[in-house]
Amino acid sequence: MRFGTDKFALQQRLWHLATRPRPVHKLEGILLPTALCPLAPEALFPGGSPKRALELGSGWGEYAVECLQADPDLSWVAFEIKSDRLRSALRRARRAGVLERLRLIPVNFGWFLEQILPPESFDRLIVNFPDPWPKRRHRKHRLIGPGFPGRVSGLLRPEALVELATDHGPYARQMLRVFGQAVDFRNILPRPGFRRERPAGAPGTRFEQLTRAEKGRAAYYLRFQFHPTEAAEKELADTRAAHK
Ligand SMILES: C[S@@+](CC[C@H](N)C(=O)[O-])C[C@H]1O[C@@H](n2cnc3c(N)ncnc32)[C@H](O)[C@@H]1O
Repeated sequence: MRFGTDKFALQQRLWHLATRPRPVHKLEGILLPTALCPLAPEALFPGGSPKRALELGSGWGEYAVECLQADPDLSWVAFEIKSDRLRSALRRARRAGVLERLRLIPVNFGWFLEQILPPESFDRLIVNFPDPWPKRRHRKHRLIGPGFPGRVSGLLRPEALVELATDHGPYARQMLRVFGQAVDFRNILPRPGFRRERPAGAPGTRFEQLTRAEKGRAAYYLRFQFHPTEAAEKELADTRAAHK
């Protein structure tokens, strides 16, 4: 009981922090949740495009904008917390004429991902160069840890593609391990299970460029596909029913 009350209080506090007004919230293309429940598909995908991508930590928006330019049937939802990067991504999207199909959520993706996105909505999940937290005692802060596939599987459509990149070898190995142990995901790259060259069709990002210039080394690129087991399909059907 006590734990439940504390958890509720923490969630309320995080919610208050996440929705505290910031000038960037007023910009066209920013989508700020107004309640702790799934955002409406019309708000997330205003153009109604059939293909839908979710990006965590979109930075300056290069990946999103180039993918949107390449595919007019695609809509893109991204989480990014830094105001200057949100502004820069929106400017880039406006110039490229794809702003209508991009929605940026200016909220910490560690807090409410599962609560504010509707289940079974995305065909692609993209995480490019997540913070590597290289020190051993900080590894628990890494986004892609043991609980990550379970957190995102409810948001993905069957056969969704997971696209990951990092320049940090130990984190790449952790990504391989974490998804390798998740029964609902299959590694679609041949051994050793990652590539050191950017896959065809994957745009470059600012962070990739910066790390290449500073450290002079190639990144690791990983690709997994979501194939829900029967148990996961049943869970998805239950979640869908609960949201009706
Ligand atoms: C290392 S940068 C990579 C940016 C971009 N993907 C790229 O490749 O250029 C990580 C990005 O994730 C964002 N980020 C980190 N933690 C976040 C969180 N908890 N919620 C939302 N955004 C976050 C940072 O602000 C930053 O822009």
